[in-house]
Amino acid sequence: MPPALAPGPAIVFDRRHLLGIEGLSAAEIDGLIDLADSYVALNRQAEKKSSALRGRTIINLFFETSTRTRTSFELAGKRLGADVINMAVATSSIKKGETLIDTAMTLNAMRPDVLVVRHPESGAVSLLAQKVDCSVVNAGDGSHEHPTQALLDALTIRRRRGRLAGLVVAICGDVRHSRVARSNIHLLTTMGAHVRVIAPPTLLPAAIERMGVEAFTDMRRGLEACDVVMMLRLQVERMQGNFVPSTREYFRFWGLDYDKLAAARPDAIIMHPGPMNRGVEIDSEVADDIDRSVIREQVEMGVAVRMACLDALTRAARANRPADKGR
Ligand code: NCD
Repeated sequence: MPPALAPGPAIVFDRRHLLGIEGLSAAEIDGLIDLADSYVALNRQAEKKSSALRGRTIINLFFETSTRTRTSFELAGKRLGADVINMAVATSSIKKGETLIDTAMTLNAMRPDVLVVRHPESGAVSLLAQKVDCSVVNAGDGSHEHPTQALLDALTIRRRRGRLAGLVVAICGDVRHSRVARSNIHLLTTMGAHVRVIAPPTLLPAAIERMGVEAFTDMRRGLEACDVVMMLRLQVERMQGNFVPSTREYFRFWGLDYDKLAAARPDAIIMHPGPMNRGVEIDSEVADDIDRSVIREQVEMGVAVRMACLDALTRAARANRPADKGR
């Protein structure tokens, strides 16, 4: 028997990057959510620091504005003892591709351990991941994926309901432009939840049923007997052309108010990834209803989930590339 070495932290997620939820197994998703759950208690203590990532460098590279996601990743890295640098990059509409790869190569030369990247173009984060040596986390790419948002939503639901399998989850609003919707659909269907999407026909992607969801255009019908009501922001910045008549009309038909909510289960929880347009996709009172809304809890879970993702990726990197093969 070889002499026992000090056991390293267990591998919960044996991948180099977290670029999306699509393609992850239920075991991988569970592993990340379990690890995140264990960080919730640490975040509620007065002393919130662990040394799991001491000596590591994380760069937040945001080509698109963000408040909660960027802050959440920054706090997550710092609570794990890493050095965190924030870079906001203004995108010029021309030469976007060049800017992206140039920036990635420059940062790569500084030997970070993790790059957390948000970009307005779908696929840009995966492209960047192919060019660098470190781990890459997708913090949102266009209308494609936002994996840590889906993981934090799943953790929030699981803590409230004790499970994901078998629940009926309605994702409502601007599904067409939403990376949050896409990542949540992949995650929830993989975990055995029943997913419905509810939107005006103009905001439903073509052939959405192929993602394993049921589509509705009527809020009351779609919300019937739901366990979870997940609202989405109208992403006007991604809309080219007129997708909705007016925000008032939109609220009347697709905004969540108590009247429409009455169709859901009486104990259904209300979620929103933020930022909210109060009075457009959600009534202000409903959003602040302490008995039904878990929107603030989602923000809290966001830090724990990002700690889990950063921790899991660096554990895998340590185990798989122990000799740092001259990178
Ligand atoms: C979401 C995003 O950026 O995709 N927000 C977030 O991450 N907090 C949703 C949105 O912008 O509507």
